[in-house]
Amino acid sequence: MTQENVLEALKNVTYPGFTKDIVTFGFVKDVLVNGTTVGLTIDITSSADEVKAQLRDEATSELKKLGFEQIQINVKAPQAPKQMSNSVSGKNIAPHVKNFVMVSSGKGGVGKSTTSVNIAIAMAMQGKKVGLLDADIYGPNIPRMMGVDGQKPEIQGNKVQPLKAYGVEIMSMGSLMEDGQSLIWRGSMIMKAIEQFLRDILWSELDVLVIDMPPGTGDAQLTLAQSVPVTAGITVTTPQEVSLDDSRRSLDMFQKLHIPTAGIIENMSGFICPSCDEESDIFGMGTTVPVAKEYDTDVIARIPIEPAIRVGGDTGMPVTYHKPDSETAKRFQEAASTLLAFIDKVNAEGGADNSAVQPTTPPGVSACSTGAGAASAPAKEHDHSGGGCGCN
Ligand SMILES: Nc1ncnc2c1ncn2[C@@H]1O[C@H](COP(=O)(O)OP(=O)(O)O)[C@@H](O)[C@H]1O
Ligand SMILES: [Mg+2]
Repeated sequence: MTQENVLEALKNVTYPGFTKDIVTFGFVKDVLVNGTTVGLTIDITSSADEVKAQLRDEATSELKKLGFEQIQINVKAPQAPKQMSNSVSGKNIAPHVKNFVMVSSGKGGVGKSTTSVNIAIAMAMQGKKVGLLDADIYGPNIPRMMGVDGQKPEIQGNKVQPLKAYGVEIMSMGSLMEDGQSLIWRGSMIMKAIEQFLRDILWSELDVLVIDMPPGTGDAQLTLAQSVPVTAGITVTTPQEVSLDDSRRSLDMFQKLHIPTAGIIENMSGFICPSCDEESDIFGMGTTVPVAKEYDTDVIARIPIEPAIRVGGDTGMPVTYHKPDSETAKRFQEAASTLLAFIDKVNAEGGADNSAVQPTTPPGVSACSTGAGAASAPAKEHDHSGGGCGCN
């Protein structure tokens, strides 16, 4: 009997849940045949014990049919993710990511995605392992801004490989759907999508995962805060009073969700003229500092309006990477350094902790219902924030 006979026989073993067999998938390796003895490795992507057992049983029976007497099958599967996170308190469904940064804003169009992209790239340029999750399920712009629009991620078993650009791992609803397609999101679907982004994407062991949130304060923010300990929150605002009003809501949300606030990024703050490089004031400037003080935090960057930022976003060539000498790139680099220092400080003081924002209702009962289920739910002693519900 030969290697070819073995591979031919193993084509009868399909991978659980798929129509393709393990040979076609390329999972069968190192086949060694010696008389009626055979040894081989099955290298799979799932670490589930049932999958391993089923493949071993089916492969053994196929090889017995061929007449082998001694059968050695080594099933190699990825290790379950190591606990890497700096935080050990509360719930963490992505423990191989060390730190999570939530980028939020009160309203859309203020530069949240632009900030997420450039801060993520700046941290990667500073040598960190960085991921960028586009959790703005209503308006997923990250693929275009990172220049990976049109690329489809590779599926491995029931997990998805992130895309990669500028040294940053990327995942977005925009990469999983057809262009221009929309979904009508229910609360429960939002929760599921956020959880899957954290659990079912094959993120590496990241130092930081930057998460670009939908605008406002809603189900996505609450689910994220309940699923992983968020190490730092950043609010992006423009300098106009109307935008600042919304930013206060965002900062208040960080406090309610027990997310340490890294600071505010004042975007579209002044205009740098492309022909003379001079900075002028359009939307107002410096109006954000008093708001930061109200919430005991700082303005960590002022990013001017600069045509290169918009062009960089539209063409998938972010300024921080492509124009590293520009004033804007330098400011994003500084903001990234400040953020990394803040993350170190939070971790030195014990790390982020989301135990106070866990749902206080039994499984299956909506935390937002006012009925008997919610009323009879055991409240945690130290939960003074009302954050367990999130709708007050
Ligand atoms: N500082 C800036 N200068 C010039 N254009 C900017 C600046 N910040 C954002 N933009 C542009 O404004 C638009 C909205 O920004 P975006 O990051 O998508 O906002 P959000 O994610 O908050 O909705 C994008 O076209 C972006 O390129
Ligand atoms: Mg956006």
